Amino acid sequence: MAEARERWGSRSSFVFAAVGAAIGLGNVWRFPYITYQNGGGAFLIPYLIALITAGIPLMILEYAIGQKMQSSPPTALRKIWSKAEWIGWFAVVLVFVLSTYYATIMAWCVNYLYYSFTQAWGTTGTEISNFFNQTLLDKSGSPGILGGIQLPVLIGLAITWLLIYLCLFKGVKTLGKIVYFTVGIPWLILIVMVIRGLTLPGAINGLNFYLTPDFSVLLSPKVWLAAYGQIFFTLSLAMGTLIVYASYLPKNSDIAANAFMTSLANCGTAFFAGFAVFSTLGYLAQSMGVGVPEVATSGLGLAFVTYPAAINLLPVAGVLFGALFFLLLLTLGIDSAFSQVEPVVGSIVDKWGFNKKWVLPAVVGFGFLMGIPYTTRAGFYWVDIMDHFVCTYGLTLVGLLECIVIGYVFGAPKVRKYINSVSDVRIGPWWDVFIKIVTPIVLGVSFIFELITLIRKGYGNYPIWTAFTGIGLIVILLILSFILSKRKGGNP
Ligand code: PHE
Repeated sequence: MAEARERWGSRSSFVFAAVGAAIGLGNVWRFPYITYQNGGGAFLIPYLIALITAGIPLMILEYAIGQKMQSSPPTALRKIWSKAEWIGWFAVVLVFVLSTYYATIMAWCVNYLYYSFTQAWGTTGTEISNFFNQTLLDKSGSPGILGGIQLPVLIGLAITWLLIYLCLFKGVKTLGKIVYFTVGIPWLILIVMVIRGLTLPGAINGLNFYLTPDFSVLLSPKVWLAAYGQIFFTLSLAMGTLIVYASYLPKNSDIAANAFMTSLANCGTAFFAGFAVFSTLGYLAQSMGVGVPEVATSGLGLAFVTYPAAINLLPVAGVLFGALFFLLLLTLGIDSAFSQVEPVVGSIVDKWGFNKKWVLPAVVGFGFLMGIPYTTRAGFYWVDIMDHFVCTYGLTLVGLLECIVIGYVFGAPKVRKYINSVSDVRIGPWWDVFIKIVTPIVLGVSFIFELITLIRKGYGNYPIWTAFTGIGLIVILLILSFILSKRKGGNP
């Protein structure tokens, strides 16, 4: 081992980086909508329970793995158990695939930011929907028809990867300073958007829609699965990100408090973002003379169609708020995006001892190339399909395997002892119970549940072969992880 491990400049740099990784595009479009869909205010109950029973325990676990082993996921897991290196690689290849389509969504945001200055997307709801589906993406109608590359999206993608490179190339110390901006700026914008939203006519209807509790949903397993799924995605768990970030901390850093801070900051932001989104939707509904449910769309449509429509209606400063919203998405997304690249780079560097100076541009270049299929006219469908398979099956599998390796092979009490030796807040035996029993059961059940749904119904409205492609992808990534783990490393 020649060089010493890279280090964060301070503890708060690490916390900001982890918060930045957590708070991403998922907080703005995913959380508010999932909340509404699953019982409004009542959803906060399963959400908080998921946070406490799975989110925080697993986050503590990943911080402990990275920090104790001082390595990226594959090497760290190998040090825990010689047969577990592939699990680390599995997380890394999954997060790489995630980064390729996440960057594509960022590329759409780059385009929208550009068009926001002229409001080129039009003024009516139909015009905006046409702008997104036809002008920008020119959707081909089926994932099987790729069509040509959409040049503006490709340019946006190149800009996104360039930004990722610029944030990472100076190393972890500089990254630790950049994250103050990538976390701070979106927060400022969010405050402005919440104030603006709440002062619009009709805002209150939107908030009622968002928060009115429907407690009957608590009996439905679907709601609980949604809560756990959202917690995993939003905290960036089981993707290698937190392990690699924690590995740049000194071995004696506090773990428990860091985990509480990151998860609460993230979930608080998501909740707050809901006020910006739903107050504005309330306004949109009132202006159009319809009910809020009619305008509340899920997922990508919310950010790229519904929200711009609402912004266009603003009596003053529509251009400003349009630009602000997409700047918000870009600054929210960029620290999540580079937190998906760092585990890939760190893992290669840790295993083979290559120079990061060359590994980073290679990974960035490869990531860009692998993203090109998403810039075709079928790109939108593939973003959606990949997201489903990577997050639903990949993420659950990694989380499950981590719990088994730590809980049963290595021993949860041993890890807890280490955590308590460095943390101010003491973790009790409850943690062992969550890691060994509760979290694996939840993950196992949701995996099986999703698989049954897939077999019965396929995914979305896509042709059935896309489901085979998705499952095939997961299998290929698993095989690839085994192969990578068998390669000889350059580092001890
Ligand atoms: N948590 C991020 C979001 O909510 C997504 C993400 C997943 C980031 C995995 C890093 C790793 O958008």
